[in-house]
Amino acid sequence: MKVILCNDYEEMSEKAARMVADVMRQKPDAVLGLATGSTPEGMYSRLVAMNRAGELDFSGVTTVNLDEYYPISPENDQSYRYFMNTHLFDHVNIDKTRTFVPDGMASDPEAACAAYEETLRQVGQVDIQILGIGQNGHIGFNEPAEALEVPTHVTALTESTIKANARFFASESDVPTHALTMGMGTILRAKSILIMANGQAKQAAVRTMLEGKLTTGCPASLLNLHADVTLLCDRAALGQ
Ligand code: F6R
Repeated sequence: MKVILCNDYEEMSEKAARMVADVMRQKPDAVLGLATGSTPEGMYSRLVAMNRAGELDFSGVTTVNLDEYYPISPENDQSYRYFMNTHLFDHVNIDKTRTFVPDGMASDPEAACAAYEETLRQVGQVDIQILGIGQNGHIGFNEPAEALEVPTHVTALTESTIKANARFFASESDVPTHALTMGMGTILRAKSILIMANGQAKQAAVRTMLEGKLTTGCPASLLNLHADVTLLCDRAALGQ
């Protein structure tokens, strides 16, 4: 894993945006694997600024998001579809029909996961997968467990993730209990992976990931199996 140490969140966001922009310039019909959460917000605002300045074209791009709460409506301002619309899609010249997020409203969530895997197969290999990391080492909603799932699947959120995400909801009891998420196998199929981490709260998870061993207790450690992973992090997340 290549580690790029940044002085602060701004530098991390700038470098991440530049890496995504480089992929898009080399391949105007790139497939971007996207994440939500507070970590990539700065990257998205820079991508929007580049698009507005006429420096970056989203017209040929396809996006696939990692995950979505379940059950949740796309109109709910805490849904990941809503997050993507407000942080990126509504502000750039992307074809929204080429933006995919797992269906948080599906009547049959298992079937929705299978349909999402089929969509992923149809759009082709993800050129760059953006990831954040949970304090417990989760990626997407692949939570630490004795065994991890390979394809897109329905999962129950752990107590620690519900607590960590409660800050975005009116109260902890409003956080959905489940999610649809790409599995570890889905994530590892990407051509390249860019994982970002900032702040001291991520330090333990980042350290375990960087030990280079594989443990299902830290799903992010499985990224060590992939040949092209870059970690962009600040000093606090690295413990320096
Ligand atoms: C979001 C996602 C999550 C987050 C992680 C970190 O789509 O899949 O794994 O990346 O929970 O969240 P933040 O960035 O809010 O600290």
